[in-house]
Amino acid sequence: MNFRLISKKNPDVINILSFVIFFILSCDSTESIQPLEQNKVDPFIQNKKIAKTINLGNALDAPNEGEWGVTLEAEYFQIIKSAGFSGIRLPIRWSNHTQANAPFTIDENFFKRVDWAVQNALDNNLAIVINIHHFEEIFSDPLAFKQKLLSLWEQIARHFKDYPDDIIFEMLNEPHQKLTSEIWNEFIAEGISLIRKIDDKRTLMIGPANWNSINSLSTLEIPNVENLIITVHYYSPFEFTHQGASWVENSDRWMGTTWDATNTQKELIDKDIAMVKEWGIRNNRPIFIGEFGAYSKADFNSRFRWTEYMVQVMQKNEISWSYWEFCSGFGAWDQQTKKWNELLYALIQPN
Ligand code: BGC
Repeated sequence: MNFRLISKKNPDVINILSFVIFFILSCDSTESIQPLEQNKVDPFIQNKKIAKTINLGNALDAPNEGEWGVTLEAEYFQIIKSAGFSGIRLPIRWSNHTQANAPFTIDENFFKRVDWAVQNALDNNLAIVINIHHFEEIFSDPLAFKQKLLSLWEQIARHFKDYPDDIIFEMLNEPHQKLTSEIWNEFIAEGISLIRKIDDKRTLMIGPANWNSINSLSTLEIPNVENLIITVHYYSPFEFTHQGASWVENSDRWMGTTWDATNTQKELIDKDIAMVKEWGIRNNRPIFIGEFGAYSKADFNSRFRWTEYMVQVMQKNEISWSYWEFCSGFGAWDQQTKKWNELLYALIQPN
C-alpha cells in the first residue's frame, strides 16, 4: 500500500473520508483497490530505511583494510544499531582487489570480507548501502577504466542478486576530475541497464559528478528507471568542516574556523538543503545525503552545533542521511575508550 498517496498536510474531511474508505477497501479480501504493482519496490520506502545512518569509513575503502586505522569488528554493527541508527553506508575499494585484466575478477577473500560485513548489518536489522569507493584510476582516465567499473557492477549485482532488499547499491563515490558530468551520465545509463538485466528489483543510488556536489544536481541526467535514490554530499562551509585535513591542500590556514549557529550560518544550510529538497520533489526522486561531517581538527563545540543543525534541517526536509564517519578522523565513536562521544546526541535526535 502506498500511504504517500494520502496527503498528511491540511487533513480535511475529504482526506479523512478517503482514508476510511481506503482502509475498508484494503481490508476487503476482494481487494478492489489495486496495491502498488506486484514486486515493485518503492524507493521512498527504501530511503526511509536509511533515514539515519553512519559511514563505516576508512575500513574497506582503505587500500587494504586496517591501513587507515580501522578494521571492522562484529560488535560495531551492534553498537551502531543500539545507538539508534537505521543503517550504515559501507564504502568499499573494490578496484584494489581484482585481477589486473578483464574480466577483473574480484578477489575471493575480499568478497568474503564484504559479505561478512553485509551479513552483520542484516543480522542487526541495519539497512546497508554498498558502493564503489576510491576507484581513483577512473577519475584520471575514465574511458580506460569504464570496462572495469561495469565488470565490478556485474559481479557485485550477480553476487547479491538473491539477497534482501535492505541492500542498496550506490554506483560510484564522488565522480570528479576527468569523469565529467557528460561522461558520468553515459556510464550511469550503461551501468544501470547492466545491473537491471541481472537484478531488476535492487534499489540503486547515483549522485552527480563534481564530488556528488549539490550544485551539480542540475547536470545529472536521471535515467528513466524506477527504484532509484539520488545521493549528494554536504560539507559546507568547507573551510570549517575540512580545516587541518591532510588531504586538502593548505587547509591548515583554516584552523580556528568555528561554526557558531549564527543566523547567517544557519541560513546558508537552510538554503542549500531547501534547494536539494525542491530538486527531489521536482524530479520525484528520494534524496540521501550520503556524507556530511566535520573533521576532528575543528573545535568540538562547533562540530556539535553544525552536526546537530544539519540533522535537524535534513530531518525537517525528510532527507535521509549518513554521517561521515564512525570511528576515524571525523568519528563519533572512540576506538580506544569504546564509547560514543557527544556527537551521538547531535546525530540521533527525534524526528
Ligand atoms: C572520502 C574520505 C574523506 C571524506 C571527507 C570521503 O568521500 O572517501 O577519504 O575523508 O570524504 O573528505
